[in-house]
Amino acid sequence: MHSFDMFFLYRCRRSTMPFSPSVVAYPQLPAGLAELSRTISWLPAEEAEKYIIDPRDRFTGKSVPVFLPRSTSEVSDLVTACHLNGIRIVPYGGGTGVVAGQLVFHAENTIVVSLEKMNAVRQISKADSVVVVEAGCILADVQAAAEAVDMLFPLSMASEGSSMIGGNLATNCGGIQVLRYGNARDLCLGIEAVLPDGSILNELTPLRKNNTGYDLRHLMIGSEGTLGIITAASLSLKPADKHTLTAFCAVSSPARAVDLLSRLRSALGDSINAFELMCDFGFTVLERHFPQERFPLEKSSDWYVLLEVGGTDDLEARFHNLLEHLFEVGLVADAVVAASEAQRAALWRLRESMPEANRLSGAVCNSDTSVPLSQIQDFVDRTYQAIADIDPALTINCYGHVGDGNIHFNVFPPPDRDKQHIILHDQELLDSIRTVINQTTMACKGSISAEHGIGRLKRIDLERFGDPVKLALFRTLKTALDPKGIMNPGALISDSGTAS
Ligand code: LAC
Ligand code: ZN
Repeated sequence: MHSFDMFFLYRCRRSTMPFSPSVVAYPQLPAGLAELSRTISWLPAEEAEKYIIDPRDRFTGKSVPVFLPRSTSEVSDLVTACHLNGIRIVPYGGGTGVVAGQLVFHAENTIVVSLEKMNAVRQISKADSVVVVEAGCILADVQAAAEAVDMLFPLSMASEGSSMIGGNLATNCGGIQVLRYGNARDLCLGIEAVLPDGSILNELTPLRKNNTGYDLRHLMIGSEGTLGIITAASLSLKPADKHTLTAFCAVSSPARAVDLLSRLRSALGDSINAFELMCDFGFTVLERHFPQERFPLEKSSDWYVLLEVGGTDDLEARFHNLLEHLFEVGLVADAVVAASEAQRAALWRLRESMPEANRLSGAVCNSDTSVPLSQIQDFVDRTYQAIADIDPALTINCYGHVGDGNIHFNVFPPPDRDKQHIILHDQELLDSIRTVINQTTMACKGSISAEHGIGRLKRIDLERFGDPVKLALFRTLKTALDPKGIMNPGALISDSGTAS
């Protein structure tokens, strides 16, 4: 069973398949938006190609008219008109989501609402440790605004140069510093959102204590645009570390990586910003596409950890003493500590280039599941085995945020087949890989989506593995807030709305 027609959606960016230049019938502007189209910027479907791109080359969205509102009141006017006329809305931020939550699969009577023109930093207060930003602010710009007042906005991930805070919150994304600072949800103090009937929820509070009933902020965060459009957020700023140390260490196994984390925590407390695991094969994949990147150790190992700690003046001495001890006890086989900002950046490039190296190498599966730390080794062993049982010629780049129990299995087809072939002709293989990873995750008491959300890609997995009571409650909430089913239909929960 497939959740959607993969053949139809496959996007052959570098395809060798014959391309038939048939005339594409682009959907027209829904009649109910004719009047607003005179005052709110918009692009006709034929000019909106950029909004159909899947960052992982697995699907092609359908091009529909794209509205580009400049203010919350314009978003409200648009949503009100869509509500009255039963027009579907797919909200859009930086387009970096990897579970197709931002892609239109059913173009009829549908528009995209892109928040990209709402990118102001409305307010920043060092005294309140808060920044208020509009949804279209690029994550790196939020980080820069915090830095300008000598503070830190710690949400961080490879796509931070293009992902937008509205999407970060709508998907409750994670990234590399969750270990210390939490997910997007944990960094959000309040939100402003346009609800499916066009009304504006204004909860842009800077307060840390605000115990006044249902926390609607948390209902909207992670709802993937199905309950409304986040238009602005107040975000928590943190003190910037005076010193940061970044190290790349060889370890013998994922279990040893978890031991290493535990030792670091005992010695250094809550100062570990990031703790990333990478397998040796990942560097073979990386080298193919990023030959300029230099592998930093002399000896190779099966596994590596890229870690970063932040803190005060005495951090460096404490960290070096600890590392020496970890060598002596054999927990770390080899290590390098960045001695300059350039070296630190080079170490992080190794990690942050991995998703692109996987895409360029034609990965057919990029899992995103999490398990308790105590289960990591068991999970990794069982998953490698289960994938080999499907076909021993499948290869795996396994890496992830091991400090959060969040490991990504990136699976490559056997040498005699490529991604395009698999997507077009071997859906069964794709389904089997996804299923076994989900099964080993569930067997280890984990979650089938750790940080990427559900979108359209994993909806079927959620239906299969999610708690039925929870899913029924999702539907109740969806129906109560969005009775016409206009908000991001088909993402997160199946499209049972009445929009036509
Ligand atoms: C990563 C993204 C894919 O960790 O979540 O590389
Ligand atoms: Zn990740």
